[in-house]
Formats: sequence, structure tokens, C-alpha cells
Amino acid sequence: MIKIKRIIVLGSGRGSNFQALIEGEKNNCFPGKIIAFITDNPEAYAIERARIAGIPFFVINFSLFPDKSIYEEELLKTMFSCAPDLVVLAGYMRIVGRAIVKEFENHIINIHPALLPSFPGLHAQEQALRYGTKITGCTIHFVTEDMDAGPIILQKAVSVDESDNEESLSEKILMFEHKCLPYAVKLFCEDRLTIDGRLVKISRI
Ligand code: GRF
Repeated sequence: MIKIKRIIVLGSGRGSNFQALIEGEKNNCFPGKIIAFITDNPEAYAIERARIAGIPFFVINFSLFPDKSIYEEELLKTMFSCAPDLVVLAGYMRIVGRAIVKEFENHIINIHPALLPSFPGLHAQEQALRYGTKITGCTIHFVTEDMDAGPIILQKAVSVDESDNEESLSEKILMFEHKCLPYAVKLFCEDRLTIDGRLVKISRI
């Protein structure tokens, strides 16, 4: 019997991927429950999404902390208090520090709007357009200390058209993000992911 996983989601803004997870839980797409949403940004629209869905949320306003390490101490304390099995970074716009990565090693996943290792960091869609790649996409990966560099769980390719701009390309990628993220959460919650070095093996049920 698979135990229902306790999921927390970290985000900094719009929260459309968080919403995809809220819908995923509602539709029983994965054996997990979103027990809390945590944000560093008091203006994040995702807070409203948590409120509407009745999900407890914590606002840890980054700008009120004297430095990142003190902010992260508070974040870590809050994360601990939730006792999560899985931490999902869904549009969380900060690099997660070493202490948190260590504490939740192999239990934190992130979604990135490019086919890693291409175009890590900010403005991944714009980077792909500037470079002139014909495909880009999204990646869901485990989080390690190095930014956007952890073992890859899933990727989905999206074609780049000549008519695309940053907005249209972001929109195309986002549609796939909303499908891939709940699916990656399902694989995690069903205990189907094994990390072997850089390789994530996905077992069949
Ligand atoms: C997404 O494109 C995600 O891949 C990236 O930040 C964006 C967040 O969008 N990490 P949203 O807040 O989930 O709508």
C-alpha cells in the first residue's frame, strides 16, 4: 500500500503550476496531498490560489530579512514544521541554499522552462529564442546545490516557430509544464523514481 505523500509547494508569483497541482490533487492524479504553500513574496497571486483551495499558506517575506541565510533559517523551520515527503518548487524564484537541499535531499523537485542542461537560470525562453534553437521545452528535475543541474525526471520538447516571441513561446511551454508537473509528482508519490548518479530511473507499476 502506498502512503499518501505530504506535499509542500514553494512559489514566488503567478502560481499556474501550483494551480495545476491543486487540480491534480482534486482529480486524484497522484497519491499525495498538498499540505501547505510557502512563498517569499507577499504579492504572489499564488497566495490567492491557496486561499481559494483552502490550502494553508506561509508568507516568509524575503525583503524583511537582513540576509539570505537568516531568511533560509526561517524557511527551513517552516518546511520542517510541515514534515513534507515532497517539496515542489513551482515558480520559486530563488536558489535553494545548501542546508535546505541537504535536509530534504532527493525530496525536492523543480520545474524549469527549457530543456536542461540548455538555458538554465532566468529567462530561459528568451535565451532559447536568442540562441535560435528550433526546439526547447520544459524539464522537471531533482534539486541539488547547483542551480538547474540536478538529475532529470521528465522533459517535454516544444517546437520554436519563427513567429514566436518570448510571450508566445512561454505560453506554449507552460501548457506542457501543467501536464508534466503533476505527472512527475505522481511518479514520485507512487515511489517509482530511483536516482542512480545523474540518471533517474522510472519503474513501471
Ligand atoms: C514557470 O515557467 C516555471 O517553469 C518557472 O517559472 C514559471 C512559473 O510560473 N520556474 P507559475 O508561477 O507556475 O505560473
